[in-house]
Amino acid sequence: MQECKGMGFSTKAVHAGEIRYNEYGSITTPIVQTSTFIFKNIAEIQQLAEGKAGRFEYGRYGHPTQLAAEGKLAAIEGAEDAVLFSSGMSAITTSMFALLKAGDHIIITDDAYKRTLDFSKTCLDRFDIECTVVKMCDYEAIERAIKPNTRIFFSESPTNPYLNIMDLERLMKIFKGRDILVISDSTFATPYNQRPLEYGVHIVIHSCTKYLGGHNDLLSGVVLSKKELTDPIREYLKITGGVIDPHSSYLLIRGLKTFELRIKRHNANGQKIAEYLEKHPKVERVYYPGLPSHPHYDVAKSQMAGFGGVVTFKVRDDVEYVLKFLSRLKFVNIGPSLGGVESLITHPASVSYYSVPRQERIALGITDGLIRLAVGVENARDIINDIDQALRFA
Ligand SMILES: Cc1ncc(COP(=O)(O)O)c(C=O)c1O
Repeated sequence: MQECKGMGFSTKAVHAGEIRYNEYGSITTPIVQTSTFIFKNIAEIQQLAEGKAGRFEYGRYGHPTQLAAEGKLAAIEGAEDAVLFSSGMSAITTSMFALLKAGDHIIITDDAYKRTLDFSKTCLDRFDIECTVVKMCDYEAIERAIKPNTRIFFSESPTNPYLNIMDLERLMKIFKGRDILVISDSTFATPYNQRPLEYGVHIVIHSCTKYLGGHNDLLSGVVLSKKELTDPIREYLKITGGVIDPHSSYLLIRGLKTFELRIKRHNANGQKIAEYLEKHPKVERVYYPGLPSHPHYDVAKSQMAGFGGVVTFKVRDDVEYVLKFLSRLKFVNIGPSLGGVESLITHPASVSYYSVPRQERIALGITDGLIRLAVGVENARDIINDIDQALRFA
């Protein structure tokens, strides 16, 4: 397996994890589409039982296409090991279950991905695992929330939809010398824009469904860390079964090969569009960490190489106006998700938060006029023109 140690980001993204001369001589890694692996004889089975054979046994325990994708992800994140899952949520839930036990306590920040919060607040509780939700970036509150049985601190950066940025240096000072695992969901940042492991964060998680896959055509999640932490998570995955399938593994490998090119375009497009929207007469407020008006601009600038493609903005608090605006868009598609080549736009109040009562939703900052744009890799001028014509005539 190629490691590409000391090589550049894109060299790793293109080559790492793959076998240079595989048995077919194909330049691409084969999609080993199988559920099980066969043995030539009993000696081979015995070798496997004794842990001597570097071979595969059964699809749920791992397969060659997954292994290649994991090697690539570990190389670009600078992690000792990577474990792939069938989705980002599978990566998060399997890791928590693998690392926690009854009687433990976790701390999570309040603007984490809604489903991660739902899991932490409601599912873990049923297993006698206590959860404290703290305000994102309230470092005093984070420290105050620590208890003798705290086992995990979980947060994201940037967060959805306001793109709050955790100051990783400050955060890790709080957890220095404590027996608490700090997990960072770095989906919105990607390994190109932010490097949490270099700040001492113990585990990084990404939904590969977003920028890493990059083409809105697969679901996957990854956990990156030292082997002493990924080993128990990988063992637990063998039980919970949320394994990535061979075809998605291949799509992920293919997407990763162009990842640096794509993320640079997302960064450039995000910046241009955020700057444009900030001056737009119909836009009340823009949230983008690359704008000096963002509350965490200074931290973002010192900690990130780029700010990604998600731009959140507010128009007037009028659901009818927002829905009319969305329906007038010509090629920017209405839909959840982010990080793909196609631009997507969503109205959190009527999509991800539709089931939350209005008052509660507004208290969470999900106002009627809030819009999240996930900029793709199209030409920035065309995205701007599409949004402009829809905003002006709605
Ligand atoms: C920050 C973040 N983490 C995790 C997830 C879950 O990932 P998946 O949809 O791949 O399960 C999402 C999904 O939107 C997300 O935005």
